[in-house]
Amino acid sequence: MRCFELISKWSCVLGLWWLCCSAIAAQSAQLAISCGALGIQLTLCQEGVEAWSRRTGTDVKVVATPNSSTERFALYQQILASHSPDIDIFQIDVVWPGTFAPHLVDLSQYIGNDFTKQFFPTMIHNNTIDGALVAMPWYTDAGVLYYRSDLLEKYGEAPPKNWQQLTTIARKIQQAERDAGNPRMQGFVFQAKGYEGLTCDGLEWIDSFGGGTIVSSAGKVTIHNPQSIAALELAASWIGDIAPQGVLNYDEEASRGVFQSGNAVFMRNWPYAWSLGNAPDSPIKGKIGVIALPKGGEQGHHSGTLGGWQLAVSRYSKHPKLAADLVRYLTSYAEQKRRAIAASYNPTIKSLYQDEEVLEAVPFFGTLYQSFENAVARPSRVTGSQYARVSAEFYYAVHDILSGKVAAAPALESLHKKLVRLSRGEQW
Ligand code: GLC
Repeated sequence: MRCFELISKWSCVLGLWWLCCSAIAAQSAQLAISCGALGIQLTLCQEGVEAWSRRTGTDVKVVATPNSSTERFALYQQILASHSPDIDIFQIDVVWPGTFAPHLVDLSQYIGNDFTKQFFPTMIHNNTIDGALVAMPWYTDAGVLYYRSDLLEKYGEAPPKNWQQLTTIARKIQQAERDAGNPRMQGFVFQAKGYEGLTCDGLEWIDSFGGGTIVSSAGKVTIHNPQSIAALELAASWIGDIAPQGVLNYDEEASRGVFQSGNAVFMRNWPYAWSLGNAPDSPIKGKIGVIALPKGGEQGHHSGTLGGWQLAVSRYSKHPKLAADLVRYLTSYAEQKRRAIAASYNPTIKSLYQDEEVLEAVPFFGTLYQSFENAVARPSRVTGSQYARVSAEFYYAVHDILSGKVAAAPALESLHKKLVRLSRGEQW
């Protein structure tokens, strides 16, 4: 099958790259941590790690991983399957604890309830598999809508409440700005490349129309329904109208590139794009608004996919206690506060949402608190180790619909059948 062939091709390339990096890491350091490198993420990770190293005198190697969650997953799978001790701490996606649990240390033997009780209980629950706390929540995420406040004001428009309004406003401003001399202006950019990010965007569209969560929390495949079809038909109509054809190959950073260079009215992205968009050298500094993603019509509701990253200690680490101490430090109140202020990473400690310095740096952590708390989860818990396959089938189907290769109704009907087959019955 196309997606799994692709994943394995990637694993090969990434595996070789990784073996090379981690061998270098192991030679010189006592611990190695894998961190994301999106935006200024790697620098932030390095700063946190260095602060802990200074305190403890422990040398730590920070190893960058690919931006795409899908590619990172394939890479981790390979490393963990080989039981390699080269990487002690893995930064893992919110949808992976179930899959990687057998390879991870139970952190509750090193990190007590006095520490974990500060965190959102739902996140601790997500990371607790068969009674073992396999990861600590580092930062959380939810999809939000960014808009150019200066452009909306210029054209006398209010921020959209539903997707239909967004479509109309985006089309109007895109045309007016093109007529005024910017042929590159786009109405709306988002993540429509075939990867985990499209699962997040697609789930938001469908959930906002009341079309469910692909597989329900009870394990029933629910994807083929009129609301899902309507949501994806609307999204497909954006391609070549308010969104460029190229969006079919955009990930988070590609969409941010277009928006931040001043060439898009709206963008769907995660909160990290806020502080980068308002950086001193950003052309759109001070011209950005952030609101909840639009509702799917009058009957729908605001939605935002739950994302976020955790820190987990490998079962093959030679220094699990030391590694757990670094995890504790990186997920602490002070370190999460630093990351929230410097780079708008959403804290996983509840009281940080009442911290005045945090709210001053990222006001929408306060105004959109409900969206973060009620973000819609991908069906990873119920599908467990099968989640990556479920997600891949979903994002390939959505990509085909958006590309105009197949209409939404037959595509979702066939996706439904594939997922039912994968579940080996009507229910997971
Ligand atoms: C963000 C989210 C993560 C999601 C990914 C998809 O990094 O935090 O949960 O899987 O985007 O691209």
